[in-house]
Amino acid sequence: MAEYETHEYDVLVIGAGGAGLRAGIEAAELGLRTAIVCKSLLGKAHTVMAEGGIAAALGNVYPEDNWQVHFRDTMRGGKMLNNWRMAQLHAQEAPDRVRELEEWGSLFDRTDDGRILQRDFGGHRFARLAHVGDRTGLEMIRTLQQKLVSLGVDVFAEYTVNRLLKDGDRVSGALGYRRQSGELVLFRAKSVVLATGGLGKIWSITSNSWEGTGDGHALAMYAGADMIDMECVQFHPTGMVWPPSVRGLLITEGVRGDGGTLRNNTGERFMFNYVPPMFAAETADTEAEADAWYENHEGNRRTPDLLPRDEVARAINSEVRAGRGSPHGGVYLDIASRRNADYIKRRLPSMYHQFMELAGVDITKESMEVGPTCHYAMGGVRVDAETGATNVPGLFAAGEVAGGMHGSNRLGGNSLSDLVVFGRRAGVGASEYAQSLEAMPAVDDAASSEAAARVLAPYDGSGRENAYTLHKDLQDLMQAKVGIIRTESDMLAAIEGIDELRERSQHVGVEGGREYNPGWHLALDLEHMLTVAETITRAALERKESRGGHTREDFPGTNAEFGKVNVVGRRAPDGTITVTQEPLPEMPAELQRLFEED
Ligand code: FUM
Repeated sequence: MAEYETHEYDVLVIGAGGAGLRAGIEAAELGLRTAIVCKSLLGKAHTVMAEGGIAAALGNVYPEDNWQVHFRDTMRGGKMLNNWRMAQLHAQEAPDRVRELEEWGSLFDRTDDGRILQRDFGGHRFARLAHVGDRTGLEMIRTLQQKLVSLGVDVFAEYTVNRLLKDGDRVSGALGYRRQSGELVLFRAKSVVLATGGLGKIWSITSNSWEGTGDGHALAMYAGADMIDMECVQFHPTGMVWPPSVRGLLITEGVRGDGGTLRNNTGERFMFNYVPPMFAAETADTEAEADAWYENHEGNRRTPDLLPRDEVARAINSEVRAGRGSPHGGVYLDIASRRNADYIKRRLPSMYHQFMELAGVDITKESMEVGPTCHYAMGGVRVDAETGATNVPGLFAAGEVAGGMHGSNRLGGNSLSDLVVFGRRAGVGASEYAQSLEAMPAVDDAASSEAAARVLAPYDGSGRENAYTLHKDLQDLMQAKVGIIRTESDMLAAIEGIDELRERSQHVGVEGGREYNPGWHLALDLEHMLTVAETITRAALERKESRGGHTREDFPGTNAEFGKVNVVGRRAPDGTITVTQEPLPEMPAELQRLFEED
């Protein structure tokens, strides 16, 4: 029997980004014994990569904004694949969550008369993003972290969970390891909230940091949870393309929200050539019209540079493929000709420093070279909109690891609001579930020993394969075959490639001991990435149409029949992954009426 450090809680939250912190706060405030486990240091989460703001219909800049308009924008941005109830709750509750953050200490930028200032972002009809310069996610994490710690929640920083444990059908805890010492850790819990974030590290060009390896998506699948919309992956249009060491690093959409425009290597504002009919009415037809609107209003939203992200990323991809790209394979993003240096440094301080220090580019004088970067997973664990409950009793999910809220494409700024709206709801759901149990569910010794053996298995390998090489091969495969533009033949090749990588991963060798051994940790993460990559690819093969973040060259355009279904992924205990089509929940008539003008 392996030796474990053992802990016992009512509610165990896995992941300490915005959703995990908000869930932990709620559970602690409801009086439950709560712990939060984070793979990295506390405060280091992908939440900070939502730089430009948090979307909420506060109506501070445009009083005509309200939850109905926000709901409609979110559904249109997601090409109507969203879980309508999640989108409704999100639009209704986001303003309260923003005001709550302010009460807890977030220092949002202000309007002249002292209210929370809001900026334009793609696909939002009104300037709606409350922000702190271009560091909004960071400020949100700082606020939530301080609140969580003040409530006495136990924090396990630099611990990684590798498996959920079950008592029969229901979740009863988790098994993982302490990264620093390599010791195994067993958490017993009445309920578990997954808030592990995303999976961008499956691609080679990504805004995600090393933690984003799809752990929560995979843990949920091993435990028998249903996954939805896994084919829908967001490529943010503007990542850095140069120098190679920082390729993929995010450039906030706030640059375009505050006036930035995109140009190709001929100087053309090419986005005017890519306006889809769905957004034509609210988008300027010509540069002159867009510029006139910008001069006379707060914000930049009538320019096609601020179409939803899927549209802009595809357009940039097409320009580069047509030979109209920049020297390093992107296009140009220019704010210097629209805004003065003081404004840029005040509103976009991180962007200024990022380009100055990493690329030697002064964005107050020069254009940035930008290109798409894998940023966000719309797909994830299927959850109940009200509580965050999954189909596995005792297991809840919130934030990026949960699917449904954003449909096939997320609008910028809707992630931060998603985290706090559904983080809070999952915290309530998990707490109420824990309170309903009379006793701590059992942990099966055989199952935890099997999980422990799996964690230690890389030390038994024959040693001929290297985890870093396999990870790079997987990233290159997914970038080439399951990227922005997809075809059946490429994706079938990807499935074969994933199978080969899985076979090779059985022979990964690990050198050194168990103290701080990133090679060992990556070998464990590889299993998760391969599981998730296969699910994404199978779901993408199943959806024979183009919608939002899922573009098929062999099936261009949306297909009404596919607009009625989610692709649901499941993993059988023997590891087989299957996908099926299941009907979307039907939207009530009073909400459908909001789309009549479309
Ligand atoms: O561009 C950004 O600032 C990212 C925001 C988001 O992903 O919501």
